Amino acid sequence: MTARIIDGKATAASLREDVAAAVARLKSEHGITPGLAVVLVGEDPASAVYVRNKGRQTVEAGMNSYEHKLDAGTSQDELLDLVAKLNADPAVNGILVQLPLPGHIDTSAVIATIDPAKDVDGFHVVNAGRLATGLPALVPCTPVGCVILARQVHSDLSGMEAVVVGRSNIVGKPVAQLLLNENCTVTIAHSRTRDLPEVCRRADLLIAAVGRPEMIRGDWIRPGATVIDVGINRIPTDEGKTRLVGDVAFDEAVEVAGAITPVPGGVGPMTIACLLRSTVEATRRQNG
Ligand code: GUN
Repeated sequence: MTARIIDGKATAASLREDVAAAVARLKSEHGITPGLAVVLVGEDPASAVYVRNKGRQTVEAGMNSYEHKLDAGTSQDELLDLVAKLNADPAVNGILVQLPLPGHIDTSAVIATIDPAKDVDGFHVVNAGRLATGLPALVPCTPVGCVILARQVHSDLSGMEAVVVGRSNIVGKPVAQLLLNENCTVTIAHSRTRDLPEVCRRADLLIAAVGRPEMIRGDWIRPGATVIDVGINRIPTDEGKTRLVGDVAFDEAVEVAGAITPVPGGVGPMTIACLLRSTVEATRRQNG
């Protein structure tokens, strides 16, 4: 039996419609138009594509988009000055600094400078701490997208055995935290985990966020498990082109899993949709 394919593209489209409706209400009832500022330093082509898509979808949802493109040689102080200006600007409700930043800039210092109330990425320690202690927080977007997709298959995740492969601050740790809040039993596995295939086989819900193309094989998956693949890896094809693959060997996994997200069209589209939702949430909280 082949797995059910979880349609992230359609789910994201429906989430964006909800966001657009919420924005329209904020405008008509309170005269407020949410604004999202996105800062890109340097010319990383993948980051440039993400930033362009974020800007377009922000405007399509009825919000204001402010794009700041700085050259790769921008100093840390210049970037911190820009963040301070955005913190003070009442038209800006959400601030996102696209990662990765060039090597001469201290990413933690930049994140620490963002006003936690405008930190729509949920990367500031205040938001990470609030999430960890069960307080209302702005929550990282990709992890929220993962949980929404998992809940399309299981309306209640309570009691499920969840294995998260990857321990980044952007995905692995916050998704583990969200799954714990959903009452899953959570294991965080990583590159030093002993017998990773065996640990993965425990999972009713497997979240793959390692950034290694097709690392997780079909025989690492428990039959019937739900697999959420966060990986977006570009690999060369035999014809000299490239194609996108996830962290899971999809063709193998689809024969074993009960449900699986495709790449592309799974978690990817959810990230920006969740970012738009976070921007509306931040705007509401800033306006009491
Ligand atoms: N780079 C890759 N993913 C993300 C993300 O979710 N937020 C930011 N700011 N940069 C990223």
